[in-house]
Amino acid sequence: MKKTLFLLSLMLCASLAPIMADVAYNLTPYPKTLTNRTTFCQLPRQLVVGVDAELGDSTMKDAQAFVDALNATMTGTTATLQHTTEGAFVQISRGGTNTTVGNEGYKLTINSEAITLQALGEKGFAYGLLSIKKMLPPHVCAGQKAAEAQDYSLRCVTITDNPRWQYRGFMLDCSRHFFDVKEIKRMLDVMALYKMNAFHWHLTDDQGWRAEIKKYPKLTTIGATAPDSRITDFENGTYWLGHEYGPYFYTQEEMKDVVAYAAERGIEVIPEIEMLGHSVAALCAYPEFSCNPSAKRTVWTNGGISSDVVNVADPKAVQFYKDIVDELCEVFPGRYFHIGGDECPTSAWENNKMCQDFLKEKGYTNYRQIQSWFTNVISGYIKEKGKRTIVWNESITAGGSDLDLVKEHNPIIMCWYPAQGGAQKAASIGLDAIITEYHSGVAGAASGAGGYYINRKLSNHPSEPDGAGGGDDTVEGCYKYVPQPNATSTPTVIGVQGTFWCEWVGVPEYLEYLALPRLMAVAEAGWTPENKKNWSSFVDRMVIDTQILDAWNINYSRHWMPGYVAPKVETTEIIADGVTEYSFNNQSKDRPIALADDNGTLNGQASATTNFVLEPATKADQYYIKSCVSGKYLYASASTSGTMVTLDTKKTAWAFDWETMPKYVAICHGANTEVALNNNVNNATHIRLFAHGTGNGASFYSMKLEKRGETEGVVNVDVNDNDNDNCYDLQGRIVPAATRGLYIQQGRKVIK
Ligand code: ACM
Repeated sequence: MKKTLFLLSLMLCASLAPIMADVAYNLTPYPKTLTNRTTFCQLPRQLVVGVDAELGDSTMKDAQAFVDALNATMTGTTATLQHTTEGAFVQISRGGTNTTVGNEGYKLTINSEAITLQALGEKGFAYGLLSIKKMLPPHVCAGQKAAEAQDYSLRCVTITDNPRWQYRGFMLDCSRHFFDVKEIKRMLDVMALYKMNAFHWHLTDDQGWRAEIKKYPKLTTIGATAPDSRITDFENGTYWLGHEYGPYFYTQEEMKDVVAYAAERGIEVIPEIEMLGHSVAALCAYPEFSCNPSAKRTVWTNGGISSDVVNVADPKAVQFYKDIVDELCEVFPGRYFHIGGDECPTSAWENNKMCQDFLKEKGYTNYRQIQSWFTNVISGYIKEKGKRTIVWNESITAGGSDLDLVKEHNPIIMCWYPAQGGAQKAASIGLDAIITEYHSGVAGAASGAGGYYINRKLSNHPSEPDGAGGGDDTVEGCYKYVPQPNATSTPTVIGVQGTFWCEWVGVPEYLEYLALPRLMAVAEAGWTPENKKNWSSFVDRMVIDTQILDAWNINYSRHWMPGYVAPKVETTEIIADGVTEYSFNNQSKDRPIALADDNGTLNGQASATTNFVLEPATKADQYYIKSCVSGKYLYASASTSGTMVTLDTKKTAWAFDWETMPKYVAICHGANTEVALNNNVNNATHIRLFAHGTGNGASFYSMKLEKRGETEGVVNVDVNDNDNDNCYDLQGRIVPAATRGLYIQQGRKVIK
């Protein structure tokens, strides 16, 4: 039975107090320097836009698009274009220097007699024209014709602008869930409006291969179809589809279409093919490239890290990747190719004869070095094609990485965990870094612990849809995250990226809700100098921009808006009564509860999940959490490795007030506490427990127990700590030490 939730529909109608702030210059990202004046520039009814005769076709094309956009939206004003600045009201000419405007910036002077726009190159002109459009009423950028004739005026101003960083990106994971080209174009439109210039397209993962590769057709038949999929939407909350998901993929023509659409908006598309790790979907299609070709495998339906990785010692597997690079370089003409490289366990290599021999032959002492070897080979291959490799930070931060091998072809290190540590390490070996912090915990935000993983849950309000993360990655936290805390001593950061993973996100409305306006916050971080960022100004500007998003029918979140009233959550349905409680006893009496199966121990890893099943044990009311993969049991921390954690009927329940308690509750204690039991196997007992914790001291984390296809329960987790810090429940009450433990509660009221 799918649970029925009311959710965002209510939020959408939540009342908003009057919110229009006095924003003289509605420009996001905010410019580098802006000198304002009190006077106004009224646009003439016949607006002549003149491009200096010495400027060529590309600027004329941009100016024509600008003129067309004005004519399509303004009423009462008509714009025309000429190829001279003589007598024009808007005068576009070459000007500025490398230090003032760089190759993407511009200088814009608006006074009552004229508007002059200067830049050194095409991008600068395009961004300058966008800034003019952006400062006009929102209907202009929205592309909507004003109903009545208006007088258009702009505040007089001088802007000298250029971006802080060259890379201002957005990553969308289209493997875990597939988003069609139409949705991708909507997101590209939003990116372009905020002067973002890199779309990082995560095309492959354990849950699906989405890029057509003509030489390997099974990738997009077998590899693009999962047996099931978990969807979150606003109507039903989170549920399992209950049938196959796919085959979903992009043809090469579709990918070229996206590339062209993006290019028209100044955005470069970067394909990411996860190499070596996160490759279950590929290995379902071509098991011969795995370390265990005869193993039975299915495309994953849920998140996690798989140890089933590509056999890097097999030259045919390496050639497989080269063939893919060959085909995709024809589709993606941009400067970069992302090869993944994150979260790649080495255990399959350690147990594979070919890999063992390869290690010996190369004289390596550590299996991680063979991943470094591969990074070297493939980034060299990509370089021969005139492109630069981007790779996740594990390629240099995972223990045993061979930095000399990794760095030879100058890859860019995309830093997520640890973002700052990764960037420092990249700098120490002379490599550039892109910052995409997954969850800082130290953003300096009053109400958040933001980062740039903009799929994470925005708040812990009970009306919030299910989502990855702890619920404190607010828009404010994201905005206030400082991507380069010490600009003088730190690394060669070349940009920032908003990263969006889709394990929890299967529909466009939810994608947009989580991503926006955090993506705009990242866009501002990528463009605006840190000392010019201002949260309340950003909020004021975003409030105005919601008119554009509304016109585009985009489903942004609203919590951050002044006057926002959260929807009231009503508890109207009981789908499982008879609360039965069980508890885990963490026998280690030590802080981390570590889960392990044959993937190894899973503590300290931000997004680790694994497959388990809740099973009756020999004693009547005793249960074990047993791995579906290995048949091993959940056990406690490394120090007591092998100690079975039993699930005994709990006698004394926590005194939670079920009427007022938010939907899911978990209490994890201590930094990097991770509990993840993730069952996605097609059998009768489907129970999923999931919690993330990275805070210090007592913190609250969401956790959910999901019985697939049936019902849900709440999981209350308190990971005990032997240094006697306090644990709190959601009402802020200290949980008595005697009752701490890891609790599972089945049966709960759900929100309808
Ligand atoms: C990542 O989040 N695994 C890059």
